[in-house]
Amino acid sequence: MNAGSPGLDGQGDGEVNLERRRFLIGATAVVGGAGVVGAAVPFLASWAPSAKARAAGAPVSIDVSKLEPGEMLGPLPEWRGKPIFVVRRTDDVLAKLEATEVSLADPDSERETQQPAYAANPWRAREEQKAISVLVGICTHLGCSPKYYGEVGPQTFDANWQGGFFCPCHGSKFDLAGRVYAGVPAPSNLEVPPYMFESDDVIIVGQDEESA
Ligand code: FES
Repeated sequence: MNAGSPGLDGQGDGEVNLERRRFLIGATAVVGGAGVVGAAVPFLASWAPSAKARAAGAPVSIDVSKLEPGEMLGPLPEWRGKPIFVVRRTDDVLAKLEATEVSLADPDSERETQQPAYAANPWRAREEQKAISVLVGICTHLGCSPKYYGEVGPQTFDANWQGGFFCPCHGSKFDLAGRVYAGVPAPSNLEVPPYMFESDDVIIVGQDEESA
């Protein structure tokens, strides 16, 4: 399989173009870094506190200053032992999310357990920084890690899906706000954790105005 058309298993070889690199950022991180993390991730995130404190549930500080539009942060930070997806979306993606032209199971984020109230909007994000998406990277079906497909448009293996997150375990699809498509095994949208911005470039996951 060539590098320009990554398959569902996320494996391939050959030229590493931009699309491929973005794919690898998501694909490699969610499988725990097997094989190509060092080569594929173009930058390092910084976050705190220690791994032990994070596992215990302490808030996690994440620097997104080097995150370019269309990219997902890698290596992935964790919060309470869960992988956290942080994506900076393009203006095109934001407009498409607002239009909601596709068939979604919960397009208006009405299931309150899946996001804080401030993320119950088309972007499922804080509106003042709606380009930044923060999600728990665990499929709401049986807990696999979805893979990131950042390009908007029909995907090579599914013309009805416009990109976002794909769970290879049983085929659940989510859009670039983590909203689940109708008719897939996953019953609900990906979870948005509590989060807030400490500054324009630093997010704190696990803490917001309510819990601070
Ligand atoms: S665990 Fe994701 S589709 Fe089943």
